[in-house]
Amino acid sequence: MNCRSITLLFAAIVSIITVTDLAARNVKIDTGNSSIILDAEKGKKLRHLYYGSKISQADAANIPQALGKGNVAYPDYGMITLSETAIAMTQPDGNMTLDLVVDNVSTRKDNGSDITSFILKDTYYPIVVNVNYRTWPEENVMETWVEITNNGKKNVTLTKFASGHLPIRGGDVWLTHFYGNAKNEARMESSPLEHGLKVIKNRSGVRNSRYTHSEVLLSMDGKPAEDVGRVIGAALEYNGNYLVKIDTDQSNNHYFFSGINEENSQYKLAPGETFATPPLALAWSSNGTGEISRSFHKWARKYKLANGDRERKILLNSWEGVYFKVNEKEMANMMKSISDMGGELFVMDDGWFGVKHPRNNGSAGLGDWTVDTRKLPNGIDGLIKEAKKNGISFGIWIEPEMTNTKSELYEKHPEYVIKAPNREPITGRGKTQLVLDLANPKVQDIVYNVVDTLLTKYPEIDYIKWDANMDILNHGSQYLTNDNQSHLYIEYEKGLRKVLDRIRSKYPDVTIQACSAGGGRVNYGFLPWFDEYWVSDNTDALQRIYLQWGISQFFPAIGMASHISASPNHQTHRIIPIKYRTDVAMSGRLGMEIQPDNMTAREKEQTKKAIAEYKTIRPIVQFGDLYRLLSPYDDKGVASLMYVNDNKDKAVFYWWKLRTFANDLLPLVPMDGLDPEKIYTIRELNRIDRKPLPFEGKSFSGRFLMENGLEIPYNHDLPKEEQTDWSSRVLYLETTP
Ligand code: DGJ
Repeated sequence: MNCRSITLLFAAIVSIITVTDLAARNVKIDTGNSSIILDAEKGKKLRHLYYGSKISQADAANIPQALGKGNVAYPDYGMITLSETAIAMTQPDGNMTLDLVVDNVSTRKDNGSDITSFILKDTYYPIVVNVNYRTWPEENVMETWVEITNNGKKNVTLTKFASGHLPIRGGDVWLTHFYGNAKNEARMESSPLEHGLKVIKNRSGVRNSRYTHSEVLLSMDGKPAEDVGRVIGAALEYNGNYLVKIDTDQSNNHYFFSGINEENSQYKLAPGETFATPPLALAWSSNGTGEISRSFHKWARKYKLANGDRERKILLNSWEGVYFKVNEKEMANMMKSISDMGGELFVMDDGWFGVKHPRNNGSAGLGDWTVDTRKLPNGIDGLIKEAKKNGISFGIWIEPEMTNTKSELYEKHPEYVIKAPNREPITGRGKTQLVLDLANPKVQDIVYNVVDTLLTKYPEIDYIKWDANMDILNHGSQYLTNDNQSHLYIEYEKGLRKVLDRIRSKYPDVTIQACSAGGGRVNYGFLPWFDEYWVSDNTDALQRIYLQWGISQFFPAIGMASHISASPNHQTHRIIPIKYRTDVAMSGRLGMEIQPDNMTAREKEQTKKAIAEYKTIRPIVQFGDLYRLLSPYDDKGVASLMYVNDNKDKAVFYWWKLRTFANDLLPLVPMDGLDPEKIYTIRELNRIDRKPLPFEGKSFSGRFLMENGLEIPYNHDLPKEEQTDWSSRVLYLETTP
């Protein structure tokens, strides 16, 4: 047990732990809006009695009478083998059963949160399992995780080790989860839970939100809605492979589990060793999914995301502008352009490095982080000077966990890559890419040094785009012993965290973006070291509305990099006017991903205006509360959302038309999150129309806006030759003093 903890006698449990007179053993743990109640009778199984909206002590005392005796809170495998379990292990003598019972309960405080630990012990074997709950009362988030300790004299083999488990009563329970692929990430899918096992898992080892997400919503009152119904939001905080399971049994009850994917990852726990699972974050809402998002966003900004209290800069990233064709003139041009448009940062993407094996495409150079002076004769120093001249900051792209077979690193150290023993390595991008073996401490040093060397040599580097474009395709570590090969995924993740810890303790202020072939690394596990996430290499504005809708369910706008790109779009070839592209991009962390030289004067002028307007609303978007008003998934032809600041005196409303309407009513979108008593004046941002909107400069009560909304016209008021069927609006609302 952690030395900071205070072990308490059952009779003397204090603080957030409430011992009811019922049986002097029920423990109630609260956030501001939720309670979880566990029955912790010494010598018996820990039982989960309740998770739901916050309840009084009096109601809590009668919970078993009202709702029954509950289920095992952290089910162990072996003694009753019929249902899904959270933990299983094999003892040195081959025994595959566990029988964990409550031994003690403790509480402690840590960094603004309260931690309650239930200490479970096996009735025969020297195994101790701490089931922990941490609460942030103000943000309404709770985390659960376990620590498994082997107090025996020989290894035990862990075969199951979920972070958390929740039994959920049957009814009309719906699951919302996220699936996708490169350029089509974070698609939302909601459906009622059906009998049998629903499994969401990741096996990439590196990019764990590319195909599926570990975050899920469980809606207890039927089809999920933004503002009604009881909902649980669950997000595993892990950078590696995960497994989310919901077992719906023959009696219609649901059993939810989330944790590391144990498949091919059995873990040998040495004598005296403790295995800590990653935390599972939980939020409760009695008012629909919107409240879950707002709780997660607040908590992320305050406790999880790196520098979550700092405004993000408006940047231009070079990728879609020049791809691998980086050169000094082009970089200088781009810096001048973004500076002229009011941007604050330029990021040089892939293609700047490699001497013996120049990085001219995806097949060479990774691992050799030396500037290619054929492309950049004055090196990074020259670029930094140029950035300073333009009054902007400078950032750079790296992919430090990877190498190519065509690299000096690989030529010297083929033993540093992940590959199965007795087999040729399986390559990825460019048919030459390989993943470095972060289980190996020497490799951890190499990866750390890539960043440390860059930042020591060029302390002006303000931003890093940290990419990771490959999965672990072949299972094998050249560092781990033969009998520990099953530790590969777990040790890779641990190695990565060690590197990130070292980087962050030395460079807390550098902005770091988690990118992984698009949105492959949007998970709470990455947040403590990263300031933001690239959510997709699909920059098509229409597609982004869907994509960002999905991301916004759990992740705050401050970290959601959202860039204006070219038209026709490079991924979808869709032609979208600059107005619509800017209106979508400025609903997240605004940036650009374009060759400014190819923009028309008009496009540049509109972008400049959008950047200036974004600066005025940046605090609302980046620190405000999100209210999703009309989902693109509802197929109503319009999507809309808004951000409202803490005082509810400023808000930004976004509205995007998704399809063509003719002789048809557009949906009227009531607003949300405003103060009904306050009076708000409306001003359109990014205006392109010749005439102002009828409600421009008019004032309305929050109540009126939330009950009715505003009629938004089909199209923009433009000369005929400029008309398109694209239409979008950004409205700024401010209270009248
Ligand atoms: C994949 C990323 O998602 C892109 O944005 C870009 O940085 C490329 N890698 C560079 O190779």
